[in-house]
Amino acid sequence: MKRMSMLLLFVACGLCAFGALAREETFFTVTSEPFGKTPQGEDVEQYILTNHKGMTVKIMTYGATVTSIQVPDKKGESADVTLGFDSLAKYAEPHPYFGVTVGRYANRIANGKFSLNARTYRLAVNNGPNHLHGGLKGFDKVVWKAEPQHFQHNVGVKFTYFSRDGEEGYPGNMTVSVAYILSEDNELTIDYAATTDKATPVNLTHHTYFNLAGAASGKTILDHQLRMPAATRYLPVDKGLIPTGELKDVAGTPMDFRSRFKIGERIGSVEGGYDHYYVLNRKKPGLMLAADLYEPESGRGLLLYTTEPGLQFYTGNFLDGVVGRDGATYQKNAGLCLEPTHYPDSPNKPEFPNTILQPGQIYIQKSMFKFYVKK
Ligand code: GLA
Repeated sequence: MKRMSMLLLFVACGLCAFGALAREETFFTVTSEPFGKTPQGEDVEQYILTNHKGMTVKIMTYGATVTSIQVPDKKGESADVTLGFDSLAKYAEPHPYFGVTVGRYANRIANGKFSLNARTYRLAVNNGPNHLHGGLKGFDKVVWKAEPQHFQHNVGVKFTYFSRDGEEGYPGNMTVSVAYILSEDNELTIDYAATTDKATPVNLTHHTYFNLAGAASGKTILDHQLRMPAATRYLPVDKGLIPTGELKDVAGTPMDFRSRFKIGERIGSVEGGYDHYYVLNRKKPGLMLAADLYEPESGRGLLLYTTEPGLQFYTGNFLDGVVGRDGATYQKNAGLCLEPTHYPDSPNKPEFPNTILQPGQIYIQKSMFKFYVKK
């Protein structure tokens, strides 16, 4: 009799443990909800990814835009660490590219033109004398198709878009995809792919403005600490923020983040604030650590890994009091961007790494934002 009761007890414990494990595995969810209509009447959906470590990511089909990232602080309290809006209507108006997927070409192309195969292409001049972030209706302002993705240890959603030959002045019919995948370790991986039927520049990036103290905290990012251990050089720029072509060592300058610095410590000696492209000292291709951002009061941290040659570090210098989610007002330096990407203006600078995609080639980029807490 005693042996039977021991066996039953053992089986019962086993079932409880399995149940707990199974429940933990099932904590991953990907759901969707309507998120309004564009001014042109196109339906927009928002996808919600959750894991069992307290992280929630929301992404909408308009611009394949991240509209929210909730992560816990050192006390386990979650907050949204991204600048954004409550409604599609605000995203459909001109805004500082909150959370968007940028393309065909992220950052600037000088004078809105480039030459390719003995032909000059003219693009929208939408930022002073230059072309910025894919033009007047870049990838951030179109509706992407979406399909949820379920894997054993993560969930995601894959967005695809077909960019016609001549769209925003770029050559070639381009099929482009961007997949957001949330892991059980609070990693948000972004996988890009693109193909074209005619040679074209392509350079995609992600443009979330982070504030690890919480977007509604009312704090700036000037007390955040940043370390970019491999960012040994940066691109000096002209008044229009076009790189001069020089690759300058960071050593001995306020641009040096190879060791950890508070962002506000030296920003006063950087004209206009940080808005510069950093070149990573790469030893080999593949994912490498590009940035380590930490906010000491909340204990929230963010590691950025990327396959790209570098990243744009931008401290929200142009934010001017735009009203965001929950009525928060985003003043200058309310958020910062870490944009893994190719060099700005590469189509006009043959000495920069190539960004021309040829028919038959596949453009790929992988970047991963890994959130952590440190007491
Ligand atoms: C990038 C640029 C900045 C600014 C933002 C969008 O980060 O480097 O100069 O244009 O996009 O506002």
